[in-house]
Amino acid sequence: MAFQNRAKEKCRGYLLFVVMVAAFGGFLFGYHTAVISGALSFLTSSFHLSIFRQGVVVSILLLGGLLGALVAGSLADRFGRKRAIILTALLFILGAAINAYAQSWMLLLLGRLISGLGVGIISVAAPLYLAEVSPPNYRGAFVSLFQLAITLGILASFIVDYFFAPGGSWRWMFAMGIVPAIVQMFALFFIPETPSWLFRHGKDELALSILGRFRKDRQWMKQVDAMKEVAKPQRRGGWKMLFSHQLRSIMIIGILLSLCQQITGINTVIYYAPKIFGEAGFATGPGAILATVVIGIINVVATLFAVWLLDRAGRRVLLLAGVAGMAISLGFLSFAFFTQWAAISKIAVASLMAYVAFFAIGLGAVTWVILSEIYPLKIRGKAMTVALFANWASNCLISLIFPDLIDILGPDGTFLLFSVICFLSFWFVYGCIPETKGKSLEEIESLMTAQH
Ligand code: BGC
Repeated sequence: MAFQNRAKEKCRGYLLFVVMVAAFGGFLFGYHTAVISGALSFLTSSFHLSIFRQGVVVSILLLGGLLGALVAGSLADRFGRKRAIILTALLFILGAAINAYAQSWMLLLLGRLISGLGVGIISVAAPLYLAEVSPPNYRGAFVSLFQLAITLGILASFIVDYFFAPGGSWRWMFAMGIVPAIVQMFALFFIPETPSWLFRHGKDELALSILGRFRKDRQWMKQVDAMKEVAKPQRRGGWKMLFSHQLRSIMIIGILLSLCQQITGINTVIYYAPKIFGEAGFATGPGAILATVVIGIINVVATLFAVWLLDRAGRRVLLLAGVAGMAISLGFLSFAFFTQWAAISKIAVASLMAYVAFFAIGLGAVTWVILSEIYPLKIRGKAMTVALFANWASNCLISLIFPDLIDILGPDGTFLLFSVICFLSFWFVYGCIPETKGKSLEEIESLMTAQH
């Protein structure tokens, strides 16, 4: 089986399989981060958790994410992208098993921390892997499949939570996360290491044979010299090099983009949607959970649209449209809370849905793509670690302070603040993010390092 892209480059069916397996890591990322939203209230009654302890149960996974991201780049550079992904599947199985059997708050925290390590490592390793196995004209679509998988994982966790909520079976909510992790573990044995990593470690023969198994025609052969050139061992990059004069601006662009993905507030909606609906006077309980499931569905559908558009319209246009749409939707939401419109609950639901859809087509899908392609190979793993560290740190911070923000600024002030941050992000994207559509990673590397 093969299919053709616009540049007439043909991929083998095997590459599609490989891409799906690696992207599936996103499903585990999504499931394990979002499952807590439905489990929390039952954990609270089972373990008599105070508000503080509830907050710790939620945010310890994000802390694990931060630590995981911190070691992920070195792991992926040293042992390979594939081995780093295998490690995450093991961490997800272990974390979920501990959570499902946890008899105490401390064990619960241990399980969440281990799952968090998995989430942090996969957030670096999977996009790296996907970018390095993709032909240029499919890279946008292939890397954004990771985001699609995240959204499917989030949706699956919402549905599982909804299903087990009537019986209060929180152990099953966690245990269900073991199943996809085992499936991925098994599938990972059938995918190879990336050609870029193999070239870098002197395994040229193997890299060439894998490229031959991925692509049907011989067009990729023209890129081999460039691949070998950027992989030369003398071009090895240490941590110090990340902020050298030549690479500093690329590093800053990556960090800022990664921050924008979080500080524009997406996880206030993903983790706290039922609470926001409650503030808007929307039904609490099953009504609010159902509205949350609808948000999950919109997230998936809009991401599908982004996957389809990324290699057609390009990265910049999706990012700009997405961030502008988020700013406007949040402006509406804030205005509805401020004026206390009679139709406030309907406006809240509609604005949140529009906001999530705009996030999905812009910052959701495109951030992973840009981060996986703008860095030179010699620092790619470490640079992604830095960008993802910023991502998890800001995610952790926003999730922790959101309830206080609502208390201090009110919902209107809080959403206005996020709307202003979206406007600022628009200008950052407009001024700093390059268009990378259709270029090979080696072309992007020479373009970025020449420019900065
Ligand atoms: C973000 C997550 C977020 C998810 C929502 C991802 O790209 O990194 O923090 O929960 O999108 O779909």
